[in-house]
Amino acid sequence: AKSSIWGGRFSRGPSQLMQDINASIAYDKQLYRQDIDGSKAHATMLAACGIISDADCAAIHDGLSQIITEIEAGDFEFSAALEDIHMNIESRLADLIGEPARRLHTARSRNDQVATDFKLWVRASIDALDDALAALQASLLDKADEHCNTIMPGFTHLQTAQPVTFGFHLMAYVEMLGRDRGRFADARVRLNESPLGAAALAGTSFPIDRAQTAELLGFDRPAANAMDAVSDRDFALELLAAASICAVHLSRLAEEMVIWSSDRFAFISLSDAFTTGSSIMPQKRNPDAAELVRAKPGRIIGSLNGLLIVLKGLPLAYGKDMQEDKEGVFDAVESLAIAIAATSGMVRDMTANKNAMRDALTTGFPTATDLADYMVRELGLPFREAHHASGSIVALAAAKGCDLDALSLEDMQAVEPRIKADIMGILTVESAVAARTSFGGTAPVEVKARIADARSRFAIE
Ligand code: ARG
Repeated sequence: AKSSIWGGRFSRGPSQLMQDINASIAYDKQLYRQDIDGSKAHATMLAACGIISDADCAAIHDGLSQIITEIEAGDFEFSAALEDIHMNIESRLADLIGEPARRLHTARSRNDQVATDFKLWVRASIDALDDALAALQASLLDKADEHCNTIMPGFTHLQTAQPVTFGFHLMAYVEMLGRDRGRFADARVRLNESPLGAAALAGTSFPIDRAQTAELLGFDRPAANAMDAVSDRDFALELLAAASICAVHLSRLAEEMVIWSSDRFAFISLSDAFTTGSSIMPQKRNPDAAELVRAKPGRIIGSLNGLLIVLKGLPLAYGKDMQEDKEGVFDAVESLAIAIAATSGMVRDMTANKNAMRDALTTGFPTATDLADYMVRELGLPFREAHHASGSIVALAAAKGCDLDALSLEDMQAVEPRIKADIMGILTVESAVAARTSFGGTAPVEVKARIADARSRFAIE
């Protein structure tokens, strides 16, 4: 059958294959709400500008409201022959209200319509992701608060570096997620210009009011160039870029949870709610949720790459290539949303094994830097010399098979004779942590202060 929407120039309908490759309804039906909001705003504006009658506008609004109800009740029959969500809705509207439905598309094209719908969808996703990220920050802040004094090894190269607190370590992620929220918020500001009324690519000769539709849809202003408005998808790229970075952050925390919950480390226990058993090994508690969060960047970064490649070299204005902009974005947002939610749950439920964290610090000489710092502060040595002397003392302890704080004063004085008895209180991990009071450091007092500051900076209870 010929298209009721564009069939005029055609003598026969598209082949089945044409229909199959062309249809986007299977996924763009997700845009139904945005499409209806956009059409209502457009109709309101057309009536206000005297382009359609108030009666037509009212009929269009009523019909579109009924369509929302039908879709949400599962009573709407989506048709692939009608290609996409825009034509599915318009066609149903014509069934419901007749002629006024055919006036709705005045001064509009599917090109500005789809750009508008997609922007509204991305904007709503940004808002939902921001809420979810704030909730994850809240889980991390609570857990950090609980563990300001829980000492664990800090690692570089996954080798013991210096003692830190668990609360301090978790707060690192609160900051990363804060910047993620900032990236989404920045993208939202640039996104928030309305494409509606750009029409196919060149604007329209009808006396429309683009500022009115922009305002009705919560945009800050109409996009200034009609061709740009229908041609670009940088707002989707920015969402995907911010989502990719955020997913990478989550994957690092997830990987740490996998490591921390392993038998070898046993720093934390994940709750039963976020682990799974094995079909053969009865003892197992596997961190599947954390592993899946670790894996999600695969598809999210894949979607970013996919859309960058679709847009690269695409001539202005609209090309059907751009229909390929949606699935990756939908998938990325869904993937990120579930990763954030699962991470919140894992963080909220996990318990710290303080003894295992503390025991892990009996190897690896985590206070060797404190020994060097002592020689700089109390003996006036240049740091490089102090570093060398501390290294020699570590070698001595390694040879004796003990930790630094188990060496005798005489042992240390054999390497650096000016070391005095006051060293003995400095080499414990407790004093090493307590001493790091510099701004943003790991000392419990400092972490407490930064938690309070983060709660107000990120507006989290
Ligand atoms: N389904 C299309 C999309 O998602 C809508 C725009 C169609 N525009 C066109 N000129 N064929 O991009």
